[in-house]
Amino acid sequence: METAVLAEGIGAGGANKPGMVHIVGAGPGPADLLTVRALNRIQCADVVVHDRLIDAEVLALIPPQAERIYVGKASGHHVMSQKQIHAVLIEQARKGRRVVRLKGGDPHVFGRGGEEVQALQAAGLSFEVVPGVSAANGCAAAAGIPLTHRDLAHSCTFLSGHLAEGSIDFDFDWTALARPRQTRVFYMGVERIATIACQLIAHGLAPDTPAAIVQDGARAGQYVLATGLKALVARAPAYGPRPGLLVIGETVSLSPHFKAAEESLPSNTPPVHHAERFSATDRASFYRVIASRRDMRHFTPAARVHDEVLQRVLQAAHGAPSVGLMQPWRFIRVLATALRGRIAELVDAERMMTAEALGIRADDFMRLKVEGIRECAELLVAVLAPDDGTVFGRRTMPRDMALCSLACATENLWLAARAENLGLGWVSMFEPEALAQALRLPDGAHPVAVLCLGPVPTFYDLPMLEQLAWRQGRPLAEFVRVDTWDGAQALPSRDASRCT
Ligand SMILES: Cc1cc2nc3c(=O)[nH]c(=O)nc-3n(C[C@H](O)[C@H](O)[C@H](O)COP(=O)(O)O)c2cc1C
Repeated sequence: METAVLAEGIGAGGANKPGMVHIVGAGPGPADLLTVRALNRIQCADVVVHDRLIDAEVLALIPPQAERIYVGKASGHHVMSQKQIHAVLIEQARKGRRVVRLKGGDPHVFGRGGEEVQALQAAGLSFEVVPGVSAANGCAAAAGIPLTHRDLAHSCTFLSGHLAEGSIDFDFDWTALARPRQTRVFYMGVERIATIACQLIAHGLAPDTPAAIVQDGARAGQYVLATGLKALVARAPAYGPRPGLLVIGETVSLSPHFKAAEESLPSNTPPVHHAERFSATDRASFYRVIASRRDMRHFTPAARVHDEVLQRVLQAAHGAPSVGLMQPWRFIRVLATALRGRIAELVDAERMMTAEALGIRADDFMRLKVEGIRECAELLVAVLAPDDGTVFGRRTMPRDMALCSLACATENLWLAARAENLGLGWVSMFEPEALAQALRLPDGAHPVAVLCLGPVPTFYDLPMLEQLAWRQGRPLAEFVRVDTWDGAQALPSRDASRCT
């Protein structure tokens, strides 16, 4: 009957009448987990708009004459934005076509089906939603985990293991989630398993609560690791581009894959898929940020950096490597106007002293203006912490290592700032005592960099020093040698460092 309605009501590209959009859940992978209705819709489609995670055997059911439009969506890597997807659906339906919007799992369970429905409603188009087997029940069944059980779990909660864009923490009611006799299912929960486990345990969940990671659930290469939560965190595989479901609750112990923490567990590497976290597009963005990072001197006056952006760039600094995790640094955020004025005076005084030391190039040097101390949205001072006596290795070069750690943190901040479309300018203090006093630093602490951070009117294409013909950067090849300091160049002479 459904087919009859379709055939009659919607012309295949014929009438001027708009077509209809079928938002179809493709389930967790295998074609035999499609619903009969989903199969029917796919087979009648004029055009199929599909995501990345649709199995080849489901795609093979699309009639050869139907057009396929791939709209992507790996974690953090979207071929099209959600808005662009809406536009495609609307455009195709307005051509009078039978549009199947094919999504992994169920469209209404973390599938953004609701947003697509809203867009279609707003456009006045007809639609239907065909449910699919969601990852939670598909994977749980395949891994032998009941989601509810009369003795063990009276409820089951589906949660997204992805952080919403821009947020740095989950907004869950952890106290409620830590209560016993329930199953928690975190979609894409493997990447943040440590945070999730810490929160649940901190809110009272027993650390040996049975928990499982299911990757490629219900598919041929399914990988299940099930043990106590704490042990699972230690053994979690690196998160790959495939979705990983995290299930936490007593019912996991019923899975044939479950092994109590003290039993020997299988290796922590999924046997089939080698973890590969980043796509080629991710890599391209990463190198683009590095290539376009610039030391900035000119900032947009009266602009500001939003709190959450500042938090993110500082978090990037905090994520940098440091010798023995000693993190021997501190960033001091300068908010007091008078203090900022004082720092600007100190920088001006430094410049005069440097100009004097330069002698005949003094005038040229003074034209290389360090601007931004007064104008930039945020002023941060990167400070090397006093040696706290921690022994690391033989501590042959403790100060150098501490300085390197501070440099790593600053570089992360610099790159994060560029990725956030903010400029950062590094101003050095070669005689930092007065600044140390102004910041009331303890003995042994040294200000290493005054960092100007904020929106800029434009990013320079070339380093300022090159633009002003002060100095040229040297090609990479000069810096990489074979075996010894004066060995042959290890790389061809072509300078790839300027590629954007
Ligand atoms: C350790 C360090 C100290 C720096 N000190 C200053 C400084 O005092 N004044 C300044 O204008 N730029 C300073 N810079 C910025 C460099 O001059 C700039 O990074 C360099 O010219 C390369 O340009 P780019 O960052 O645009 O690639 C410093 C950079 C580093 C890494």
